[in-house]
Amino acid sequence: MSSELEFDLTLYPAPVLRRPAEPVTAFDDELRQIVAAMFRCMYRSKGVGLAAPQVGLKKRILVANATGEPEDELCLINPELMDRSGPASLFEEGCLSFPGIFAEVERPELCTVKAFTPEGDPFEATYEGFPSRIVQHEHDHLEGVLLVDRMSPADKLRNKAALEDLVASYKAAQKSAQKT
Ligand code: CO
Repeated sequence: MSSELEFDLTLYPAPVLRRPAEPVTAFDDELRQIVAAMFRCMYRSKGVGLAAPQVGLKKRILVANATGEPEDELCLINPELMDRSGPASLFEEGCLSFPGIFAEVERPELCTVKAFTPEGDPFEATYEGFPSRIVQHEHDHLEGVLLVDRMSPADKLRNKAALEDLVASYKAAQKSAQKT
């Protein structure tokens, strides 16, 4: 269907990734179309999670799927992190806005979130393991916090050239956009 909403990924260092996202106020068809398009973009990009700023939208929406199975789809609108607990673990994370870049990030095992479904129904859920890590990573995006902020100095150094390449590509794209 050509009328379907399709998103492109927004890559670091686009400024929208740095701005705190704003709460969703209308639980309408447009929101559900955005959510469906975010899932399509996430699957197409072989990601396990995606936050709205990563498709250029300043909205508090995140989608995730830790396994790729339809029953494991998560969609959190206006998520609020109520609690994080359990032992902290280090795990290598990637991010669709940082292609080719990976870094070990320390996060607690469990998180409890209050959120809304795309239909506007409130719910509370506790996640653990990989889904918990994804939810925490995507929640960071809604606050403008990025993988690069969570990296150890060693990982930053290891990824230095790749990060500089992303900045150079962004600047080159800005320049060519100005010309047209
Ligand atoms: Co990310």
